[in-house]
Amino acid sequence: MKVQDEVRATTTSDYMHWAKTRSGARFNLATSGLANLKLQELQVSLADLEITGDTGYGYPPLLKSLAERFRVETASVVTAAGTSFANHLAMAALISPGDEILVERPAYDPLLAVANYLGATVKRFERRFEDGWRISPAEIESQLSARTRLIVTTNFHNPTGVLTDEQTMREVGDLAKKVSARVLVDEVYLEMLFAKSPQTAFHLGEQFVVTDSLTKGFGLSGLRCGWILAEPELAKRMWLLNDLFAATPVHAGERLSLVALRQLPDIAARAQARLDQNRLLLNQFLDTRDDLETVRPSFGSIMFPRVKAESCDKLCDLLREKYETSVVPGRFFEMPAHFRVGLGGDSETLTEGLDRLGQALDELKKQ
Ligand SMILES: Cc1ncc(COP(=O)(O)O)c(C=O)c1O
Repeated sequence: MKVQDEVRATTTSDYMHWAKTRSGARFNLATSGLANLKLQELQVSLADLEITGDTGYGYPPLLKSLAERFRVETASVVTAAGTSFANHLAMAALISPGDEILVERPAYDPLLAVANYLGATVKRFERRFEDGWRISPAEIESQLSARTRLIVTTNFHNPTGVLTDEQTMREVGDLAKKVSARVLVDEVYLEMLFAKSPQTAFHLGEQFVVTDSLTKGFGLSGLRCGWILAEPELAKRMWLLNDLFAATPVHAGERLSLVALRQLPDIAARAQARLDQNRLLLNQFLDTRDDLETVRPSFGSIMFPRVKAESCDKLCDLLREKYETSVVPGRFFEMPAHFRVGLGGDSETLTEGLDRLGQALDELKKQ
């Protein structure tokens, strides 16, 4: 695919709109995170909560807890409503209209949409199926210029689920440093390594800015507990910029997030067991299909198969309408021959959904 500059004013995300209005189905394989945890699964009492607190620039115990988790100074933590708003706030602090930035392709659409909304000149670097969707520092270098201000990537990669190793991330950081650019790494899926002391690109150098949340790995989407890790001066700029956006956090949410963080080891153990079991199911299904080609990561909650012969949109429509099963059409990731399948739901739903996916593929083959 030809790499080209993209200049377009954006005020919507087609993917987000689709996800909110069209992704639901009886057998929903379109979600990328763990199934939602119920309030009753958390050990929490009303005494843990409060409506209002003195938390203009974040709730100190929550900032401290996140700082300890990532082995960073408290001054490097900026909390935000989910990774979504963390990405927006981080990019708003890093991008001025006309700035050149490099975004991976395929990409999570809201990252592109926000960059375009902020008036960036967006250039792309490719991650290729044939290359296991890996980041190629040489490819980034070929797109880099003295005007590049930011490189944007996700780890694990959405939509493919592929992990970028530390050495590659270091190389990306070195490239960015050469032109005084920053690297924004959305690490929301990296949580699915379920490490007690999670690894993060933040420690690879001051040019790294990281976003993350409790959303995907722990089934805690509704808490909107997201954060940015950035060097303290930049973090302060983000807090001040947030005065123009969200102003103050939802304090009850901060309190509940702290409760969840304290119980994270148990939540993580259950999440990991579910993903391991479901990945096995998905791999068994993929073993039976010679009409799908898939890079198969051994972690995480998503894969991005390529349909060998059929139109993927046709497959996704048939699957949803006749077989009551949803996956994410690859066109939302600029890869129309692919679809994204999620394995964070319950195993019965996944088993039945995959069976129906098989039936839809067979039906299309006969047409
Ligand atoms: C790469 C990536 N970043 C951010 C988000 C949104 O995360 P949150 O729910 O924490 O806002 C998603 C959701 O799918 C995602 O895939």
